[in-house]
Amino acid sequence: MSRPAESIHGQWSSRWAFILAATGAAVGLGNIWKFPYIAGENGGGAFVLVYLLCIACIGIPVMMAEIMIGRRGRQNPVNSLRSLADEEKRNPHWEYLGWSGVIAGFLILSYYSVIAGQAMAYVFRSFSGVFEGVTADGAQSIYASLTGDPERLLAWHTVFMVFTMIVVSRGVKGGLEKSVKFLMPALFAILLLLVGYAANTGEYFNQAIDFLFQPDFSKLTGEGILIAMGHAFFTLSLGMGAIMVYGAYLPKDVSIAKVSISIAIADTLVALLAGMAIFPLVFANGLEVGAGPGLIFETLPIAFGHMAGGALFGGLFFLLLVFAAWSSAISLIEPAIAWLVENRNISRKRACVYAGFATWLLGLLTVFSFNIGQHWLLFGKTMFELLDYVTANIMLPLGGLSIAIFSGWILAKNSSQQELAIQHPILYHLWRILIRYITPAAVIVVFLKVTGILN
Ligand code: TRP
Repeated sequence: MSRPAESIHGQWSSRWAFILAATGAAVGLGNIWKFPYIAGENGGGAFVLVYLLCIACIGIPVMMAEIMIGRRGRQNPVNSLRSLADEEKRNPHWEYLGWSGVIAGFLILSYYSVIAGQAMAYVFRSFSGVFEGVTADGAQSIYASLTGDPERLLAWHTVFMVFTMIVVSRGVKGGLEKSVKFLMPALFAILLLLVGYAANTGEYFNQAIDFLFQPDFSKLTGEGILIAMGHAFFTLSLGMGAIMVYGAYLPKDVSIAKVSISIAIADTLVALLAGMAIFPLVFANGLEVGAGPGLIFETLPIAFGHMAGGALFGGLFFLLLVFAAWSSAISLIEPAIAWLVENRNISRKRACVYAGFATWLLGLLTVFSFNIGQHWLLFGKTMFELLDYVTANIMLPLGGLSIAIFSGWILAKNSSQQELAIQHPILYHLWRILIRYITPAAVIVVFLKVTGILN
């Protein structure tokens, strides 16, 4: 199979358009909803440190590898991997790596959409002033009344999925690119405002900073390390071909290394700001750091409920969060859509209907995990927890490991050198060492540790 010079879905109009779209894919619920609560559950500082190390030493090299493979292959992940393997006269079964990505994206989106739906519900609650003067107990019961009602969760999940599929059906330029341009700066501004508010809590703010940045390794378990590593993949949208498919639409002359580093920095900043906004409130109100997935929904309303103009800012914040989730959601489903269009020869619209419906259906499992199905446990986890665990902590790291092996060992040195086009030879060698040795070793060691094979 030969590879096309350009993707049939078109190209990003500029380097900026790509950075915006890929940052849009990276920044989402993972940064604002997930990072704070898993940092809380896993003891803070040491967890955050491992997470930051994983971003720098695994995340950035793997992101470069994904963009490189995508741009060289110019098709959906399945076909790109197969044609690159063919070209190097290697085993065409590498295409299965693309498959596992398509499946992981679909599984992740099914629960992602339900959480984004919760954020949508909060847009309306905020604007209508429900949070005014709310106490910690009040905020908890407001959240519980939402998640306890399957019909409401289902309705919001449906609305979010329909919107997502409408954007995706418009294609690369019409849909994906336009939806991210204003969002990032606005989200950043509101986060800064929230951190400013949190800084007024004085000693609690210091306590939060200590909690996030003072590593206490006695609180870090092997499981915690796996979760930190899994989250580094999750937050950068790596390990399943999303960034690969975005790379397929990237013009030739863009520096892959530079864009990867910018995206990783922006993404990390947003996550850290979210932590710095949320934890002071947790401490000031005597809440649990390990409160779990409801953490942002139970803390931020307290801040919005007590600041001047809080209803407005709160509404805006949740609105921006929904947009951020939206620009991530489209990247989760894009590999499947690109595959359906290229290999099944159906229209983009029809592909969206099929893939969107299947995702919506699977999402019911997560909807029920919060209420009538909270006791349907497998391996001690609800369906939502299981979907999240298997995708983020197993499928993404394994996907990342395979991508590292493919780009470091299967792809000829010439090919990666040419495609990455890094000017400094030393930096190219650094990338190659990270991708050939460090990334695979880190993923394997963490897995061995968690399974107890390695002590
Ligand atoms: N990175 C997004 C977030 O942090 C979620 C996401 C989008 C994602 N695309 C992905 C996660 C691909 C894993 C793989 O919210």
